[in-house]
Amino acid sequence: MTDIQDLRIKIVDHPLVQHKLTLMRRKEESTSKFRQLLREISLLLAYEVTRDLPLATREIETPLAAMEAPVLAGKKLCFVSVLRAGNGLLDGMLDLLPSARVGHVGLYRDPETLIAVEYYYKVPQDMGDRLTIVVDPMLATGNSAIAAVQRLKDGGARRLKFVCLLAAPEGVRAFNEAHPDVELYTAAVDQCLDEHGYIVPGLGDAGDRIYGTK
Ligand code: URA
Repeated sequence: MTDIQDLRIKIVDHPLVQHKLTLMRRKEESTSKFRQLLREISLLLAYEVTRDLPLATREIETPLAAMEAPVLAGKKLCFVSVLRAGNGLLDGMLDLLPSARVGHVGLYRDPETLIAVEYYYKVPQDMGDRLTIVVDPMLATGNSAIAAVQRLKDGGARRLKFVCLLAAPEGVRAFNEAHPDVELYTAAVDQCLDEHGYIVPGLGDAGDRIYGTK
């Protein structure tokens, strides 16, 4: 992993992640292939973001001997998907951590005030005791990511990480400033945002590409 310049973000630069991301970016990639690649990449991102999970030991018996063996310690972690594109990152993560808990946050941007308005919020209990991994493929302006993380903090979450597939430098800076305590993970930081808030070169609208809605 690499840190770039002044941005505090971990770039998962594993060759498999980078190769699959390139395939996803191509405009001719089909919806089913896009979804499959996202699932594969998200599993690899989950591998990185959970690298420092605490371990305890438990006594088990193998066919040959008893041993103290490592197991994950503490309460089950919680993935939180920022609707709707976040759901595309969830599946691969749940492949790797099938007993994780899952929450959902839905926000829309008021077109006049540009303030993020919540339309859905459902998370497990005891968020304060769980590592919370928030997922949303595109960190563009950072506004919805910042609002989602703030909502989770207000709801009691104390240990958070945020995982996206692609980030824009503008979004990373805004997020770092708003939530300096939350580690960010991505597969790549692209050049900039265009005038509509899309990441360039990016991959287009992640939700539309996952669900084939355009
Ligand atoms: N959301 C997307 O889906 N794509 C972008 O490029 C920016 C935000």
